Amino acid sequence: MPVKLQIAPGVFLWREYFSPSEQKSLLEEVFRKLEDVPLYRPVMPGTGKAFSVEESNFGALGWVADRAGYRYQPDHPVNGAPWPPIPDTLLALWSEVADAPPPHCCLVNLYRAGARMGLHQDRDEKDVSAPVVGVSLGDEELFRIGGTSRKGATRSLVLKSGDVLLFGGEARLAYHGIDRIRAGTSRLVPGGGRLSLTLRRVG
Ligand code: SIN
Ligand code: FE2
Repeated sequence: MPVKLQIAPGVFLWREYFSPSEQKSLLEEVFRKLEDVPLYRPVMPGTGKAFSVEESNFGALGWVADRAGYRYQPDHPVNGAPWPPIPDTLLALWSEVADAPPPHCCLVNLYRAGARMGLHQDRDEKDVSAPVVGVSLGDEELFRIGGTSRKGATRSLVLKSGDVLLFGGEARLAYHGIDRIRAGTSRLVPGGGRLSLTLRRVG
């Protein structure tokens, strides 16, 4: 297993946890599963403004956003299909790095060139005793993470294909976001971009 780097209290990074060949097979499995639950573009509650990110989910519960709010639900909001199971590779990752029972949700985010995600907390989960574990595939991104108050200091990290980031414990409710994607830094994702796979317990 690669070296576990501590970025801040509760924030850990494994560089290239997945080898290039593992990244390729994981990506292929993800795209196969997405055939049943296609990526869609959620909208912001209230304003109805579309996300720049395309999303889908695997697992018992998927995270969705629409005009009514943010929530977890067992099926795809557009086609009604149940979310497919979380890939075994990701369940194995979770059991290796997260000291918690298996995750309910794997959120799939596709960032094409120009997509970003504003600073936010992951706080729609009842169970925040388990960490959030994310896998990056494809283009590099500039990831930002701070403390548990919106106004606190933040730091930037470049996340690359195959990297795994975990935030838990005192950092479980840390503000984080994606400033930008470095388009063209990887050829892994067909059509270009970055795919992230975020594992969470919902409770
Ligand atoms: C998220 O914060 O929900 C997604 C993070 C990521 O894409 O790495
Ligand atoms: Fe998040």
